[in-house]
Amino acid sequence: MLVRRARREDYAAFAAIEAQHPGYPAWGEKGFADEERNRHSVTLAAETEGAVTGFMNFWILRPQVQLNTLAVAAGALRRGTATALLGKLYEYAAKSACREVDLEVNERNAAAIALYRANGFEVVGKRPKFYNNTDAALLMRKALPERDK
Ligand SMILES: CC(C)(COP(=O)(O)OP(=O)(O)OC[C@H]1O[C@@H](n2cnc3c(N)ncnc32)[C@H](O)[C@@H]1OP(=O)(O)O)[C@@H](O)C(=O)NCCC(=O)NCCS
Repeated sequence: MLVRRARREDYAAFAAIEAQHPGYPAWGEKGFADEERNRHSVTLAAETEGAVTGFMNFWILRPQVQLNTLAVAAGALRRGTATALLGKLYEYAAKSACREVDLEVNERNAAAIALYRANGFEVVGKRPKFYNNTDAALLMRKALPERDK
């Protein structure tokens, strides 16, 4: 598996992956394209044998990285794709001297919460009725190790 910067040609595949996860807040192709104008924004693609199998977008807002969206193709789940994308995020965070990663996740999204806990994230807050005025969002945070000087 390869994790690389996303290209415009990837956005259709990202939207197709979003469509495989009903209820997941989709950005659509335009949402990914709009991020190109945000200088804090990084979008990554995971690729296996030439096929896009996952994506991630985050903002580098030193001293913090804000993880905005992450999804993996339905046919590629539980093979370490999200873990690999997170690994690349940590590399960006270290290079940018960021101290923590923050995200919001639907409190009913057990798979994502398990992924983040396995990655050392902790719940630091809760926003009631955050999604469609119904489900709460959990705020999760991971502190990053201080970089060697
Ligand atoms: C959440 C999601 C990104 C995980 O992607 P993934 O590539 O399957 O995750 P990984 O293979 O890297 O999983 C790493 C670990 O996370 C945990 N995990 C991941 N999916 C899990 C699940 N369905 N149930 C329980 N634990 C899970 C496990 O600890 C797993 O390790 P293991 O497979 O050795 O047990 C994927 O399920 C997805 O795309 N969901 C829909 C979109 C979404 O909800 N995104 C999160 C936005 S906040």
